[in-house]
Amino acid sequence: MLKEIGHFLKNAKDLSRLQREHPRAEFSDLFMAKADEQGFAEVRRELVGDLAGRVLEIGCGTGSMFPYYDERANVEGIEPEEDFLALAIARAKKMDGHVHAARGDGMNLAFPDDTFDAVVLGLVLCSVPSVKRVLSEAFRVVKKGGQMRVLEHVRSEAAVPGFLMNLTNPLWMTLNKQGCHWNRNPLDEVRAAGFVIDDVLSFQRFDTVMPAFPMRRVRAHRP
Ligand SMILES: C[S@@+](CC[C@H](N)C(=O)[O-])C[C@H]1O[C@@H](n2cnc3c(N)ncnc32)[C@H](O)[C@@H]1O
Repeated sequence: MLKEIGHFLKNAKDLSRLQREHPRAEFSDLFMAKADEQGFAEVRRELVGDLAGRVLEIGCGTGSMFPYYDERANVEGIEPEEDFLALAIARAKKMDGHVHAARGDGMNLAFPDDTFDAVVLGLVLCSVPSVKRVLSEAFRVVKKGGQMRVLEHVRSEAAVPGFLMNLTNPLWMTLNKQGCHWNRNPLDEVRAAGFVIDDVLSFQRFDTVMPAFPMRRVRAHRP
């Protein structure tokens, strides 16, 4: 726990300066780009790099995941926040036509049932109003046998850190200004939505500007 707090404090000054100097979406974009440069890129590539066919990314933010999709993936990113979406659309335009971004809400997806070969949720379930609702919508629009990929930071499973993350979640939400909860763990909800979990990777990184959250990368499919 002390190591995680030390890591957070080490980056806090630079990050709060960046946050003051840039509008919200631009800050988020710069923050993600810095983390990717420092090694987080490999996490993103491993998450989505093998996907092909019609792919939906729910909550694409500024499009930080876009460069990591293979050209065999025809990606539709949806994002509800206009400032984030504007940057995502600009990034999608540089992606040789295989990535598009549009306005959309993961709570009410504007797609028919069984549409996509894969659905991606990258660092999104921490900030949606209802994890259950978004996962149920994801399940509805992915084809039978289709892939579900989730990357998420989760609440610590250790008793004291987990308790402290619950206690300090309101403070964290004030600091991040993006509706991000740090005390969720959506793995059971992925299963409860009907997905079959194929593989879970647990990891924690101290080498990027991101807080050293416990993280999970989940590969699942719709049976
Ligand atoms: C931390 S960003 C992650 C962006 C991107 N997926 C990535 O991997 O970097 C979380 C995004 O989830 C979006 N979000 C929040 N609620 C949402 C909802 N109901 N439906 C879709 N996206 C949502 C936020 O607007 C934000 O852009």
